Amino acid sequence: MDKTHLVDEITGHRRMRRNRKADWTRRLVQENRLTVDDLIWPIFIVPGTGIVDPLAAMPGVSRMSVDKAVEAVREAADLGIPAIATFPDIEMELRDETGSNSLVANNLINQATSAIKKAVPNIGIITDVALDPFTSHGHDGILRDGIIVNDETVDQIVKAAVMQADAGAEIIAPSEMMDGRIGAIRRGLDAAGHQDVGIMSYATKFSSGFYGPYREAINTSGLLKGDKNSYYISPANGTEAVRDAALDVEEGADMLMVKPGLAYLDICWRIKEAFGLPTFAYQVSGEYTQIKAAAMNGWIDGDRIMMETLLCFKRAGCDGILTYFAIEAAKKLSKG
Ligand code: PBG
Repeated sequence: MDKTHLVDEITGHRRMRRNRKADWTRRLVQENRLTVDDLIWPIFIVPGTGIVDPLAAMPGVSRMSVDKAVEAVREAADLGIPAIATFPDIEMELRDETGSNSLVANNLINQATSAIKKAVPNIGIITDVALDPFTSHGHDGILRDGIIVNDETVDQIVKAAVMQADAGAEIIAPSEMMDGRIGAIRRGLDAAGHQDVGIMSYATKFSSGFYGPYREAINTSGLLKGDKNSYYISPANGTEAVRDAALDVEEGADMLMVKPGLAYLDICWRIKEAFGLPTFAYQVSGEYTQIKAAAMNGWIDGDRIMMETLLCFKRAGCDGILTYFAIEAAKKLSKG
């Protein structure tokens, strides 16, 4: 060792950089990898035909009518993306206090499911049963005297879940955070003969500012009275989140989700460690928009940060990611 340097002899033997020195060593020691199999693509559906309506607050994301969604989902399947998650933006006239349109068998979400399922049978379809796209107040549940009533909401979403499964949904993903919903949905699906339909619980959904652009996409931002603090988890609470997820596991969830993603990587890790269930993160609209906006201003390398954030979800224990970047990321991955 050159005695003129300050690195001492012991430190000198421990060189982390040996494994980082070349492309081949780096490939050899790589612990986590992102593949197309990790991606779930959330899409927004609007009524009508021939519609592809770009969202101002989510550059690169469009609301699509069912026919256009079918084409887009075909592209996703061709890229190897395993599953999509659908969210409807229904007509204002159809929204009411109880979200009754969620119980119409051929409503927009179910029309999309059957059309996609028929045209692209090899892609998984994940549907949300929260009532927010259907209510006139933008809340995820039924609002009575200023309170989101838990048990009545659960009764309704169980019926909606069965209808979604009837239409061909393969995974029901309840995002409304009502207590007891996972067990109730499981029993409802089983009673209707849908034993093979899975449940991906939005197990830990935080009351977050990152959902802003999504609310523009499904037109609930102008409707929402108050906030969702009485049912979503406080961003301050990690242990409570793990406890909430534990109940979902007991009640029969097949998969768990953490939402939003990047600011909640500790929760991803804790939940994966605690339960060992397939665990997903939802990189939500505001996370997507932040990256896009900064990239469009030339302030960051958008592609690089897209791939980095997605990989970091894997490192944090996630088995996959719901992301609006799914198509872009899949294209990049297929180029190698
Ligand atoms: C509500 C729901 C939300 C999202 C999906 N379903 C959040 C909300 O508006 O409260 C957010 C998705 C995103 O921001 O990308 N059930």
